[in-house]
Amino acid sequence: MSMKRQFPRWKSIKPLLGWSFSSLFEKKDRKLENCFTVDDLKSLAKKRVPKAVFDYVDGAALEELSLTRAKETFRRIEFRPHVLRNVSQIDLSQEVLGKKTAMPIIFAPTGYSRMMHYLGEPAVAQAALENDLIYSLSTMGTTSTEELANAVPEVRRWFQLYLWNDREQSKNFIENAKRDGFEALMLTVDTPISGQRIKDNRNGLTVPPKIKTKTFFDMATKPKWWGNLLTTPPLEFATFRGYNAPLFELSKKIFDPSVTMNDIKWLKDTWGGPLIVKGVQRVDDAKELVKYGVDAIVISNHGGRQMDRATVPLETLPEMVKAVGKKMEVYIDGGVTSASDVLAAIGFGAKGVLLGRSYLYGLMAGGQNGVQKMIDIFKLEMETSMKLLGVKNLSEITPDLVSLRPY
Ligand SMILES: Cc1cc2nc3c(=O)[nH]c(=O)nc-3n(C[C@H](O)[C@H](O)[C@H](O)COP(=O)(O)O)c2cc1C
Repeated sequence: MSMKRQFPRWKSIKPLLGWSFSSLFEKKDRKLENCFTVDDLKSLAKKRVPKAVFDYVDGAALEELSLTRAKETFRRIEFRPHVLRNVSQIDLSQEVLGKKTAMPIIFAPTGYSRMMHYLGEPAVAQAALENDLIYSLSTMGTTSTEELANAVPEVRRWFQLYLWNDREQSKNFIENAKRDGFEALMLTVDTPISGQRIKDNRNGLTVPPKIKTKTFFDMATKPKWWGNLLTTPPLEFATFRGYNAPLFELSKKIFDPSVTMNDIKWLKDTWGGPLIVKGVQRVDDAKELVKYGVDAIVISNHGGRQMDRATVPLETLPEMVKAVGKKMEVYIDGGVTSASDVLAAIGFGAKGVLLGRSYLYGLMAGGQNGVQKMIDIFKLEMETSMKLLGVKNLSEITPDLVSLRPY
């Protein structure tokens, strides 16, 4: 067989070109655009921020077994999809604490966001707002409750509290959060002491980062990050402004090992609004929290950053939902990097899933655009996977659709 050949013509070549001359002059972040997974964002983040910063986000405690196991467990998910269901219209929304949110993903509280990107917490909150998602601000944030409320007044926001041994100070935070329009208080309870993060120790991480001899090499390879650090307001914890003490001194103030269940009652009365307890890992603790009128719990081991070898949240989830799921909302976090992880958690009975590192990789890779990219990645996969699962909304993801393959 043969075919008559023709000379290539510009008219037929042009539509095949993936770029145009004018696009060469557009200010687009091509590397960010070419990210299709959270892992892609992670690789880009690694190239754009200093090693100590990347390791602070990416690392976990001791041998990092909790985090590794959480991720491995998500790899064991198996779906059993329905077929022949009409899935032309699907709904990703979920009701969380009585109000609709666009997807069952919630921005976890993470400290120091301005270290990952100079625009920090407001950039993440803005992305949350634009996508109708909930943002949680950490007590260890580099933006205060007031600054966040002024910067992104419309965002649905929760305030994460570490109960300080100075209760008067804790009360101030609570009152500020109330004044600044935070709708729920999230008490983190897995921090009687700070976990041992070996990478941070090896990197000699300090806040703000110190310029040491080896830092000069880093400055040459990450000029944009350093340029932003040196030309914007100082990097500091919003709650410690003007408090000049080393990090370990600060953590002694923040983490109070004497907190007990009795403090929950004090907190509930002082706050007066929805209370979430984050860092619960046992059914008996969860049952106890029900008695104190807690509205929701996060099954979490702090993304493996506190106690290493702690339980895997996804594995604890079904028994927890069975025990307390009718009395309080149950969320999970730790090692979630894809929408399939989220859908599996929903199938096991979670109301929502908190994301930490996934959005921080986005933030480090490209500021607000990077966080948006992460949301886009989750949204696309969630839409695709729900249709492939044969479900129209989250309530149709019943436990029989999801299981964990044995090891
Ligand atoms: C860099 C970083 C800082 C964090 N800071 C806080 C914090 O200040 N308060 C808190 O309750 N949890 C904090 N966490 C834990 C997160 O809220 C969340 O539990 C964890 O990130 C979930 O795991 P993932 O990162 O694998 O999604 C932090 C996590 C990271 C990665």
